Amino acid sequence: MSSALHTRLCQMLGIRYPIIQTAMGWVATPELVAASCNAGAMGFLAAATIRPEDVEAEIRKTQQLTDRPFGVNFLMEAPGAALIVDALVRQRVKAASYSRSPKPEFIKRFKDAGILCIPTCGAARHAQKAVQLGADIVVVQGGEGGGHTGTVPTSLLVSQVVDLIDAPVVAAGGFRDGRGLVAALAFGAVGIAMGTRFLLTRESPIPPETAKRYLSAAIDDVLVTKEVDGMPQRVVRNELVTRLESGNALSRIVRALRSGLAYRKLSGASIRELLSSAMAMRRSEKLTRSQTLMAANAPVLVRKAMLEGDPVEGVLPSGSVAGVIGDIPSVAELIERIVEEAEQTLKALAH
Ligand SMILES: Cc1cc2nc3c(=O)[nH]c(=O)nc-3n(C[C@H](O)[C@H](O)[C@H](O)COP(=O)(O)O)c2cc1C
Repeated sequence: MSSALHTRLCQMLGIRYPIIQTAMGWVATPELVAASCNAGAMGFLAAATIRPEDVEAEIRKTQQLTDRPFGVNFLMEAPGAALIVDALVRQRVKAASYSRSPKPEFIKRFKDAGILCIPTCGAARHAQKAVQLGADIVVVQGGEGGGHTGTVPTSLLVSQVVDLIDAPVVAAGGFRDGRGLVAALAFGAVGIAMGTRFLLTRESPIPPETAKRYLSAAIDDVLVTKEVDGMPQRVVRNELVTRLESGNALSRIVRALRSGLAYRKLSGASIRELLSSAMAMRRSEKLTRSQTLMAANAPVLVRKAMLEGDPVEGVLPSGSVAGVIGDIPSVAELIERIVEEAEQTLKALAH
């Protein structure tokens, strides 16, 4: 392998290739994470959609499927977040990933336990703040990335943040192949992080009907909407999103209340815990009243597409890159393909 591909990210994480499989709610399961790690990348388990008391068992399940290092992503403001922190520390996972509302006391516990802190940021000022709070590596996600996302294109954000901070930067948002990996390295990143590309692999748990929707989406079918939970989220346009975009205030409130009740059942949290987490999020992220009310929509509606196999009434978070992905390889095939293409690209550039 070309030494250009053996970056600081590989050294810090103890992985073969500078590739991260990001956390995706309901999608980044122990099976997908282990497949990514076994193929030489680093996978992140999505704990934001696991009941906090079950996170440790899911970590152990992942450990049974791989002896390689992996990370866990979770929401620091969610009810039960302290239980998740305990589980990560007890199980000595390699890295913690978070984005919104970083909590200094949790970050301190990770650092004391030797767990690498790898937040994801969508804007340069957030990346700077993340480093001040103790980030070891920062993933920067450009606006074309899937799920909750910012507005700055990946190519501008990566080079901007590389110039601003001393910590290593990993590029996310719009990556799928070896050319992209080399481009990210050229911008000064130490690797790439991909969500949507890993969602469309054989080890991803998404039902066939939902996968079909992703595969048939064109770039223009992937849009940013605030109608799911009040925050900008990149998703594949479907019947539900079209309806949400043309909805009124009353339909928004009814949907939010329904999701709140469904989320309560899924998370096992009490109404009091949910309210206190919603209010904490509101304070730390300066959410409006309606954004706070809609916070439970995302996990509940994404679950519908990812677990129940309903791509019509569920939400399909997605990067724009879905518009140029047309196959479902195994994770190992995907990673080998990316590395091989990156090597060929580097060779061609050297001529
Ligand atoms: C289906 C889906 C679910 C996601 N869920 C989460 C999540 O639970 N936590 C999180 O921090 N990011 C989440 N994201 C964002 C991804 O981790 C990642 O940052 C993003 O997909 C990168 O952009 P890409 O899709 O262009 O590769 C999700 C993205 C997708 C596509």
